[in-house]
Amino acid sequence: MAEKVNQQVYPSAPTNKQPSRDEESATSLSDQELRKKKRIKLGIYIAVFVVFQVIVITAFSLTVMRVKTPKVRLGTVKLQDVKTGNQTSPSFDISFTTQVRIKNTNFGPYKYESTNVTFTYQGVTVGQVSIPKGKAGFRSTKKVTVTVSVNSNALPISTTSTSLKSELGVEVLTLKSHAKLSGKVELMFVMKKKKAAEMNCTMPIALLTKAVQLNCD
Ligand SMILES: *[C@@H]1O[C@H](CO)[C@@H](O)[C@H](O)[C@H]1NC(C)=O
Ligand SMILES: *[C@@H]1O[C@H](CO)[C@@H](O)[C@H](O)[C@H]1NC(C)=O
Ligand SMILES: *[C@@H]1O[C@H](CO)[C@@H](O)[C@H](O)[C@H]1NC(C)=O
Repeated sequence: MAEKVNQQVYPSAPTNKQPSRDEESATSLSDQELRKKKRIKLGIYIAVFVVFQVIVITAFSLTVMRVKTPKVRLGTVKLQDVKTGNQTSPSFDISFTTQVRIKNTNFGPYKYESTNVTFTYQGVTVGQVSIPKGKAGFRSTKKVTVTVSVNSNALPISTTSTSLKSELGVEVLTLKSHAKLSGKVELMFVMKKKKAAEMNCTMPIALLTKAVQLNCD
């Protein structure tokens, strides 16, 4: 019985070992397949990640890193004192307050140099105001309140006796304003790009109603 048992045990032992080797090779095969699948998965992940990065970088460079030219504009003009001469002796002496607004839509500050805002009548400078150097912050508008005095003292007689005389006749005086700021937009604390902001405004002053219809570009 013991022999029989032994005989039964012995052949059964190798047959038991044989499938175990098969199982080993089978598990190592599925291991390889698993690794292959893992590699494919990793490849897909990397590809998706690369595509995602390209999209992010493109979106970033089209929005955040795109340097936009800051804008400079005048705010509402509030007339303070208005003196005008008559038709025989045409002249003006006007003071008003307004705001010089430097609008920066960049994702970083705009640092600008000091400049002059000039006011002209028929191409002749009749007043100017200086803007000290400063900074318009991250996506914000810097507002500088100024008081301006303009008068006809510098105008040649050829202008006062023609344009000014007729404009006083219709009670509308048209001034123009110009400003140009030079400065730098700073992005991500390191990238700097020179940007100039320019403004041309037309400001017809209605002498009767004391209203000013600003038109800037
Ligand atoms: C026009 O103004 C001048 C200077 O103020 C004055 O001498 C003259 O009399 C005025 N003329 C009229 C028609 O009002
Ligand atoms: C502004 O005008 C003043 C007086 O005319 C001049 O001295 C100064 O250099 C001007 N500043 C700028 C930045 O152009
Ligand atoms: C403003 O006017 C000046 C002189 O007429 C011109 O050279 C300049 O191009 C104008 N700038 C803008 C932004 O319109």
